[in-house]
This record gives sequence, C-alpha cells and structure tokens, in this order.
Amino acid sequence: MSLYQDTNKQAQWYKLIYSILGNQSTWVAAIGLTTGLFQAIADVGPEGINEPALAEKLGFAPRYVQVWCQAAYAFYLLDREEQTDSYRLAPHMDTLLLDLEEPLAMGNHIQFFSTLCKDFMAFPECLQTGESLQSEVHEPTHLELVKNMTKTDFKMITDIVLPQTGGTLEKLKQGGALLDIGTGAGFALVHYAKRFPKAQIVGLEFNEFIVEIAKRTIAEADLAERIKIQHGDANRLCYQNIYDLITMNLTLHETGGPSEYQNVLQRVYQALKPKGVAVISEFPCPDSVRDYRKNPVLQMMAAMQIHETMANNGMITKKELTKLLKETGFKNVRVAHQPIPARLVMLAEKKG
Ligand SMILES: C[S@@+](CC[C@H](N)C(=O)[O-])C[C@H]1O[C@@H](n2cnc3c(N)ncnc32)[C@H](O)[C@@H]1O
Repeated sequence: MSLYQDTNKQAQWYKLIYSILGNQSTWVAAIGLTTGLFQAIADVGPEGINEPALAEKLGFAPRYVQVWCQAAYAFYLLDREEQTDSYRLAPHMDTLLLDLEEPLAMGNHIQFFSTLCKDFMAFPECLQTGESLQSEVHEPTHLELVKNMTKTDFKMITDIVLPQTGGTLEKLKQGGALLDIGTGAGFALVHYAKRFPKAQIVGLEFNEFIVEIAKRTIAEADLAERIKIQHGDANRLCYQNIYDLITMNLTLHETGGPSEYQNVLQRVYQALKPKGVAVISEFPCPDSVRDYRKNPVLQMMAAMQIHETMANNGMITKKELTKLLKETGFKNVRVAHQPIPARLVMLAEKKG
C-alpha cells in the first residue's frame, strides 16, 4: 500500500512531512542549479570535492557551502565519501539536473517550480478578487526558464514525432514550409531552421516582448535571413494551403477557452496544405479528477493548473483535444509516441 493510501494517523503524518521535504528539496536543488554548485561538483568528477575546496573554487562563503552540501546530501542529490569528506553528484544527476538535452531533464522544472512561490503567495488574493496574476511578477527569470524547459521538445518533435508521420520529414528536407504558432523565445525556429535548411521557417507569436527576444535568439544564431517571425494572434491566422507542417508546443491552452481552441484549430487546418500535418503538444492533463492521483506527472499537472489558471490560461485534456481535432476535420488523429512524460503530443493530418 502506498503512503498516500494508508489512512492511519502515522502514515498521514508522513504524507505531510514528505510534502515539506519535497518543497525543501526543490529549494536546495534550485540553489545548487542557479549558483553553479552542482556544475562545480560535476566538473571535478567521481573523486568529488570537499566543502572548503568547493567554497574556494566558487568564491563562496564556506559556512553557506557547508550547510548547502549537507542539505543536498540529506536529500540524496549529492553522495558523500566518508574517508575524504568529499561530495560528488548522486547517480544520474549530471544528466537529470544539468543536461538540457536530456528528455527526462528536471533541472529547469526544479528552477521553474521554485519561481512559482510567487503564484502561491498571490493565490489567497486571487481567490478573493478573481483576478489573474500580473505577468511582471515573473519576468524575466521565468521567461528564461520556460525557454530552457522546452528545448528538448523541439528535438523530440523532429527526431521522434515527425518520423511517425507519412513523409513530412522528407517534404521539409527537400523544401516545404513549417509554421510554429506561439513560438516563444526563438529556439524552436532556430532548431527547425538547422534541421531543415531548405524549408521555409515561420514563427507566429502573440506577445510583443517575446517577439523581440525571439528576434535576438535568431540573430545570434545567424539565421535572420532564413526565419520569418510574425507578431500576431493564432485566433486571426488566415492562410490557405501554405504549410506542410504546423507545430504548437504548449500554446493551444493559452489561446483562450474551448471556442478559441476550435477557432485556432480550424485556422491551422486551413493553413495546412492538403495532407499537411499538425503537431499539437500540450500538458498531459487527465480527463477525470480521479486520474490526478494516477501518477506523479499527473499530480504535478494539478499544481501546474494553479499557475496556469492564475496566468489566465485554460487546460485541454487528451479526450477534448482529440474531439476538437476530429470535429475540425483532421484525419488520423492520434497520440504520438515520445519520451517526455510531461507532454501529450497529438498528430493530425489534413485530408488530401
Ligand atoms: C508556454 S509558451 C511556449 C512557447 C514555445 N512554443 C515553447 O515551446 O517554448 C506559449 C507561447 O504561446 C504564445 N501565445 C499565447 N497565445 C497566443 C496566441 N493567441 N497567438 C499566438 N501566440 C500565442 C505565448 O505568448 C507564449 O510565447
């Protein structure tokens, strides 16, 4: 029986203390990431490093390095060599915490969730007023984290999802056109432009501030000639038969409510060429409340919904998205196989 299911008082007490530990562990890990402590320990390799040497290496106050190392050890983020009094990363932490390309990467999630403390502090007031949270509460760190959190998604889309479609990869390799809606900070467009050097790559983004960030990202990658970025609303997209592929990564739920989702998908359908493909990637929100307890990722989605609701965003479940895509006229609507647990990726094709 799991801790969550055992109803005796002692087990329920453990449930609560583990929730405090989860919170504390997130903070300890977030500090280790933002300050470079984990990276410095990773850099010395398996022989590890002791507290004074680590403090000296980073120019940090030794007494703070000491308490952080002890806490990271207590939470099994670091292992400790008794004889040499030195710390090294716990198994797989080099990839899970530090590698942005890793499909199971958690480092950016940890930092992202630690920034959400501002949402939780504002929630009591939102309960009273019904207002949403002003986005400037988070900027710009939050934006930076969101941008890093989705870097693996684009690689997953090109390397794992697109091969599951009939011929989209080939079309884009030979030329073709790709539109990314709600494109964010520009990393998706840079990735797509590099993967498909002959294709026309276009991004659409609603937020003017983010459009400027995307332009900088694209210029830094020296791809300004190859990528077109448009400032606009997916709800007003009006192209006919232009694109071989349209991608939306974590965007649809931000475009409004169910009628806007339908509107956006209809416009996506129109904008695709016959046999064109839509890749709609969303959070895997469960279809029933009961399922929030089904696994840790779904539990995490319940907490995410607090943040999303405060940011004025909606949510879409697999059943709803499937229904919307089918009602729009898409065929071969299906869930794509992919390795990122916190994503639901749907594939749909326009009729030929
Ligand atoms: C969660 S972010 C994801 C960004 C990017 N796709 C990624 O994966 O990193 C959602 C993005 O969609 C944009 N967005 C929201 N509503 C939109 C709309 N109606 N039209 C175009 N973009 C929109 C937001 O400004 C934001 O940049």
